[in-house]
Amino acid sequence: MQPVILAIESSCDETSAAIIRSGKVLNNVIASQNVHQKYGGVVPELASRAHQKNILRVVNDAMVSARISAGDLDAIAYTRGPGLMGALLVGASFAKGMALALKVPLIEVNHMEAHVLAHFIPRFAWDDPLDASHKPSYPFLCLTVSGGHTQIVLVKSNSDMEVIGETRDDAVGEAFDKAAKILGLPYPGGPLIDRYASQGNDRRFSFPETTMPGLDFSFSGIKTAFLYFIRDSKANDPEFIEKNLNDICASFQRHLVGMLISRVEMAVQQTGIHQVAIAGGVSANSGLRKALTAVASKKNWDAFILPMEYCTDNAAMIAMAAHFKFIEGHFSTLDSSPIPNLEMI
Ligand code: KG4
Ligand code: ZN
Repeated sequence: MQPVILAIESSCDETSAAIIRSGKVLNNVIASQNVHQKYGGVVPELASRAHQKNILRVVNDAMVSARISAGDLDAIAYTRGPGLMGALLVGASFAKGMALALKVPLIEVNHMEAHVLAHFIPRFAWDDPLDASHKPSYPFLCLTVSGGHTQIVLVKSNSDMEVIGETRDDAVGEAFDKAAKILGLPYPGGPLIDRYASQGNDRRFSFPETTMPGLDFSFSGIKTAFLYFIRDSKANDPEFIEKNLNDICASFQRHLVGMLISRVEMAVQQTGIHQVAIAGGVSANSGLRKALTAVASKKNWDAFILPMEYCTDNAAMIAMAAHFKFIEGHFSTLDSSPIPNLEMI
């Protein structure tokens, strides 16, 4: 069987649809929501409305550009969670409606597992989805870092993943976004911090580190420390941010990346696994990508880094996860519904 699957992602602020045929992702249509920019974070009610507005166009674009008609589809996949309830409901309802109308199976996908499985998306036309030659092979470690999660995952197979370390409070993406907000930058601030950081001196300022037992993280302390640092510095010089933006961003980014990499080093030591992947929106960060590459070459690990379009939220990763479920026969019934705090398998 050469399954053709339509996948829909609507967990947060990107409405996305992708078509996968025989394990090959044919496209990855994404409508980003700019409506949140001025609020400094995602406003759930506005996210649901924007998904509702965009979803038909996004799905239609994916089908048309892949030259797929409704009758060609063998299954419809959707993100079940984790995510914002109102946002997830839009994708879930749309997917169920299509599955029912076309009389094809429904596949529910865990968003965090899909971030990890993005590493199996074939990169080239001739690429075999099950050929692991340039992809991680099981078991491997994946640092999954996004706006809502910070996890170190022990990936034993596409359907067996164990979270061996995670944040006890805020996600690292939240730390990037909150720091950006304090600096007066619009949401999402992570990419902007990254951009300013590339021009700055990353050793100019230092910040306190909060350490947690084992492989866990904490980012709420650093957020508060950053707030006080900026407040105190501005009290001495009202133009402190304008004069030092690049150095502030570079130093803060270096600090966060250091916290992530030190835990990954511990995870490698504890598990003896030397294949390390990164995934999720924050894995687009150039400082993190460079740091992982450097530590991997020093310690002889294999590092796996995604193309940019598969780091932040996208339906291609949902499609990849759905393909594995399809070939293993894992389908859902039409009473499947979103779970905002869905855990890994
Ligand atoms: O995976 P994602 O698109 O959505 C969630 O599932 O949360 O991740 C979004 C997060 C945001 O916090 C955003 O600021 C962050 O990823 N992000 C970055 C970069 N690109 C996106 N953070 C740092 N540097 C980047 N280049
Ligand atoms: Zn995500």
